[in-house]
Amino acid sequence: MPKKCFPPIDDPYYENVPEYMTEVYDWAYVNPRNAGWLDNNWVVRILLFFNDQRLMRAYLNEVPEGSRVWQVAHVYGELVQRVARRVGPKGTFLVTDVTPVQVEHAQAKLAGMDWARAVRGDAGVYSPGGEEFDVICSFFLLHEVPEAKKTAVVNNMLHHLGKGKKLVFVDYYNPKPWQPIRYILKFVNHFLEPFAEALWKKEISDYAKDASRYIWRRETFFAGVYQCVTAEHKE
Ligand SMILES: C[S@@+](CC[C@H](N)C(=O)[O-])C[C@H]1O[C@@H](n2cnc3c(N)ncnc32)[C@H](O)[C@@H]1O
Repeated sequence: MPKKCFPPIDDPYYENVPEYMTEVYDWAYVNPRNAGWLDNNWVVRILLFFNDQRLMRAYLNEVPEGSRVWQVAHVYGELVQRVARRVGPKGTFLVTDVTPVQVEHAQAKLAGMDWARAVRGDAGVYSPGGEEFDVICSFFLLHEVPEAKKTAVVNNMLHHLGKGKKLVFVDYYNPKPWQPIRYILKFVNHFLEPFAEALWKKEISDYAKDASRYIWRRETFFAGVYQCVTAEHKE
């Protein structure tokens, strides 16, 4: 019997999907069958050790009604609807994602909200034309991508940051040694998240080419397991 080719050729769900996605995260984000049952609030809640609501609030609190928001990657569960509802019809909401099935899910969630849309795009290179945003957010994307992609994503987001506007990064940080979750995450990272622990050692601003031009603020959660970092132009 001929060996099955992976990633499958001529399968639109795998077309132009970056190698790290098919090599490391196929089961979680690329394979459409798995994405079908993983995309729900409980998966996010358990992955985030029941911190999902406060981490989403940290993002939503930065989103005023009527604002223009770009979220650079899709997230399982109802986060995208919550952001879209929050900006409301006087604002705009764009979600981009590099994986076809995730764009499909986001589009289905945003159906009927004509101020919100989901399109395919790699957060490290995507350019939304001349569109301007009040808030650009990466919610748990950075820990999932290789180092060079982290640099590309942070700098692409900074490139699209207007004066007086804000970047929001919600992601892992460096858990305190006495936080038991630290050791659970070490185990999980070893097997499933090879790019995650870089955020334990490096600040998000370390990925920025010109970090000193921005004001960086950080709030941590759950004894350092998570962080919410914002960046704004100094002027
Ligand atoms: C935001 S992260 C993880 C969020 C969280 N773990 C959850 O529960 O969904 C997952 C998303 O990032 C997307 N992604 C990975 N690399 C990307 C890139 N370079 N540009 C845009 N999206 C990317 C994946 O396709 C996936 O939909």
